[in-house]
Amino acid sequence: MAPSPLQLQVPASASALHGAHMNGGEGDASYAKNSTPQRRVQQRLAPLVEAAVADVCRDAASVPRSIGIADLGCSSGPNTLFLVSAAVDAVRRRCAAAGATCPELHVFLNDLPDNDFNAVFRQLPEFLRREQSRRELDAGNVLVFGAPGSFFGRLFPAGSLHLVCSSFSLHWFSLVPRELAHGELVNRGNICAGRTSSPAVIDAYTRQFSRDLTLFLESRAVEVVAGGWVLVSLKRRSARDPCSEGCAMYDHPNSILNDMASRGLLEAAKLDSYNIPAYEPCAEEVRGIVDAEGSFKIVGMESYETAASVGTAAVTACDPAGFARTMRAVHEPMLARHFGAGINMDEFMSTAEGHFGRLINEGTYRGALVHVLSLRRKCKF
Ligand SMILES: C[S@@+](CC[C@H](N)C(=O)[O-])C[C@H]1O[C@@H](n2cnc3c(N)ncnc32)[C@H](O)[C@@H]1O
Repeated sequence: MAPSPLQLQVPASASALHGAHMNGGEGDASYAKNSTPQRRVQQRLAPLVEAAVADVCRDAASVPRSIGIADLGCSSGPNTLFLVSAAVDAVRRRCAAAGATCPELHVFLNDLPDNDFNAVFRQLPEFLRREQSRRELDAGNVLVFGAPGSFFGRLFPAGSLHLVCSSFSLHWFSLVPRELAHGELVNRGNICAGRTSSPAVIDAYTRQFSRDLTLFLESRAVEVVAGGWVLVSLKRRSARDPCSEGCAMYDHPNSILNDMASRGLLEAAKLDSYNIPAYEPCAEEVRGIVDAEGSFKIVGMESYETAASVGTAAVTACDPAGFARTMRAVHEPMLARHFGAGINMDEFMSTAEGHFGRLINEGTYRGALVHVLSLRRKCKF
């Protein structure tokens, strides 16, 4: 067979394996309509975006000829453009203050190929119109690109990015740990590294997190310029031992699914083989992996707990139905892939509402535990 004249490099896709993308569209069950808690986490990253841009554009002489900005795990909906918009605005203000011409801005939006990129692209004309109409600042040129693929591998040209943001996405894995996916380990009663998981299961999750975060860092190390920034938020637990945790976010889907199985609404054996490709690391683990990989310096790391409420900034409430909708928007694609017709989403929703209602009444509902990290690409000497 004649050799192909063109070798295309297709970024490795994790979504085909585990379906860890969010619900698309703009309907009641969509991520677009149910992602306010995640927006609050993005708001925590916004000042770090400002600081990173101030560093990249320190003075007129240091402003690069073009600036590459990427959001990794951008999803679809109002959160998709939040951080890149903050970055574009910050560059413009910074250039105006420094008396520099605003450079061309290259904005890359990445997510898994099954993400609703059609919805993302439909948002772009409005975004670009808004950017172009801001005549009070030197507009520069903003060019936006979609980058479907897994961030656990190369996505962008070498040395093309000055700022990478990734909010609430890096706790997802590239795949379910092999031992669990192949049934060598059974994680009965848990859907991830949970309170009653065996040490072997916890080890499998810990190792997968380490492998994946290392891959993420190695890939970004090639793509981010020396002195460039990677800003990340991800779920966390407060101690290495999952049994010592007061509350982990994945306890919620775990309780809901086990409750459904106990009432015969879900096949128990099918639930035993359901493990989600996600993990909540403690600060010590994250630091250890970043330091061992060696390409980035941890400039800041904050670990905090989000407010236990949903809704807009103006109207916030502990709303069991809102929590249930957010849970559905995140978990439905994975549940559908594993259980198929074996799961009734109406039953899932009413069980979830009951679960959150109980926790709220008892006063035991807690917000998510989150790490926020700012990493700077070390200079290569
Ligand atoms: C909870 S959402 C967060 C979305 C958005 N950043 C926000 O703050 O609202 C996590 C996103 O990460 C994406 N994701 C998960 N694993 C990924 C991977 N390996 N590569 C790219 N995106 C991934 C999911 O598809 C999903 O859209």
